[in-house]
Amino acid sequence: MTIKENISLLPYNTFRMDVKAKIFAEYSSVEELRELLTRYKDERLLHIGQGSNLLFTQDFDGVVLHSAMRRARCVSEDADYVWIEAENGLVLDELIDQLCDMGISGMENLSHIPGEVGASAVQNVGAYGVEAKDVIETVRTVAVADGKERVFTNAECRYGYRDSIFKNELRGQYIITHVVYRLNKHLKAQLDYGNLRGEAGQHPTVTDIREAVIRIRRQKLPEVSETGSAGSFFKNPIISHEAYERLTRQIRDDRIPHFEQEGGVKIPAAWLIEQCGWKGRTLGGAQCYEKQPLVLVNRNNATPEDIVNLAAAICKDVKDRFGIDIHPEVNYI
Ligand code: EPU
Repeated sequence: MTIKENISLLPYNTFRMDVKAKIFAEYSSVEELRELLTRYKDERLLHIGQGSNLLFTQDFDGVVLHSAMRRARCVSEDADYVWIEAENGLVLDELIDQLCDMGISGMENLSHIPGEVGASAVQNVGAYGVEAKDVIETVRTVAVADGKERVFTNAECRYGYRDSIFKNELRGQYIITHVVYRLNKHLKAQLDYGNLRGEAGQHPTVTDIREAVIRIRRQKLPEVSETGSAGSFFKNPIISHEAYERLTRQIRDDRIPHFEQEGGVKIPAAWLIEQCGWKGRTLGGAQCYEKQPLVLVNRNNATPEDIVNLAAAICKDVKDRFGIDIHPEVNYI
């Protein structure tokens, strides 16, 4: 294991906030994780993945935990499916790349999403009509309180849109150490989102779909290796049918982009933000990304306050103009 004191978290968050942590501890096995949980039982703990979905708003006066466990293995298979168990610290896109090379299908639409396996199962990442929950069979965890293993079935994770039990009732109580995915040996293409079908071509292979998704993402989203960001900053709001009808009457526009969802109508936050004139605008060093306003970027040495202020100004304008609350999907720490 590696333990460092008073270190900059700059390399550990894709927003590139230059804040410090009192302690940074990286473990290479579940046993080492248990040792760390015992040693630091009285400290504030924060387990991070690639730091691609959080915003450090200040120095962290506690222990930042990170996993250096990065293996994946096949644990079972039958004629149609293969069960892959991946360790929490494996970069999700590296796993997807290997699966696509082997012709295994199920996660190709999630290609190029930043982040590691553990965090992606907390957040239920999703893109192009697929969410992590669609392929997760079980999640293996360690309890922070006593180090005991607990396995959660998919249903027990209570997955929702960018949501799970690990963000709500059980927040901070369990650390996901492994995720078991059930994947398809034969391609089950999901091409119904946006222009994915057109981009992937006729009779695409799993690799064709992966490459199409990467091309679409590159057109709209900043590369976290080049521009500081945390991907989508806000969740897309889901409003009731009545609220949607009221809105179309109020702004006299029935062309508001909207998607029918279980429980209501999803309105793209990108559209709401663009209508409010924020697309491409900056506040301090922070910018509402010019190609996709759902994303906030660190354009010019942004401070945490710059990002927080920009997000608050956008939320306020959307609320004032449309009466809709939009909420960050990024975790403020
Ligand atoms: N739109 C605009 N202006 C823009 C861009 C988009 O009005 O500049 C509107 C359009 O109406 C468009 C709609 O937004 O049809 C949807 O846009 P897009 O397909 O790009 O998806 P999104 O809703 O903006 C969500 C996810 C992304 C994911 C894409 C594709 C959330 C919060 N975000 O974005 O996830 O890649 O769908 O599935 O649900 C992430 O979570 O970090 C992320 C990038």
